[in-house]
Amino acid sequence: VKRITVPVIKRMKAQGEPIAMLTAYDTLMAELLDESGVDIILVGDSGGMVMAGHENTLSVTMEEMLHYVKAVRKGVNRALLVADMPFLSYQVSVEEGVRNAGRFLQEGGAEAVKIEGGRSVAPLIERLVEIGIPVMGHLGLTPQSVHLFGGYGVQGKEAEIAEKLKQEAKSLEDAGVFSLVLEKIPARLAKEISENLKIPTIGIGAGKYCDGQVLVSHDMLGLYEKFKPKFVRRYAQLAKTMREAFINYVQDVKQRDFPDDHESY
Ligand code: KIV
Ligand code: NA
Repeated sequence: VKRITVPVIKRMKAQGEPIAMLTAYDTLMAELLDESGVDIILVGDSGGMVMAGHENTLSVTMEEMLHYVKAVRKGVNRALLVADMPFLSYQVSVEEGVRNAGRFLQEGGAEAVKIEGGRSVAPLIERLVEIGIPVMGHLGLTPQSVHLFGGYGVQGKEAEIAEKLKQEAKSLEDAGVFSLVLEKIPARLAKEISENLKIPTIGIGAGKYCDGQVLVSHDMLGLYEKFKPKFVRRYAQLAKTMREAFINYVQDVKQRDFPDDHESY
């Protein structure tokens, strides 16, 4: 298989080929995504919510993320593997950011890291790129700022914020990101940002004009049911399927229908 690398991802924009990205936190899911032609597999800090029951992404730690990244690494042969930098792993200082980003490559086997934020993270991005660590940016509704935003509302509806997002996108490109996630911003703003940049944008709730799309796998599988934003398209109803399977198993055990002779030695 031909591996998807950072230069391949950048070239896809020039060639007009949409980039398909999804999340994984374990080996089995990573294998399925990789076999299915997903270009980028993100070990998102969303894993804290869908795998470990955290209420938001703020309590996710480096150790928890490294655990997910190592598991996902074992399942990926083709896709680009990107690790999400958790809250407080990169905000304190450039030094700490470099150390933690480096751990994802050194210990986790990731090929790039993702960092939320605009101009304030540009110095760290410059340093990481300088030492050979590719960085994916993330603007718009950045969930690690949930308390500042007061929730998970659409970002960039006001002209002033929209302008700020455009400028921050440009400063991230200048700092050296190889791609940029745009989360929950108006489709028209995402279109403008995408047209203004040479690097690909990857949208989640950012409309059809982005250069690629990303969803949380557990959301698009209908596995995580706690809430469903409008931007999630459910390609399966896995929670329903699993619930039915579990209920049937319990019933079979209770009725002594499982195991039968064929399932015994
Ligand atoms: O944590 C995550 O899964 C993400 C994607 C939704 C972009 O940041
Ligand atoms: Na994230």
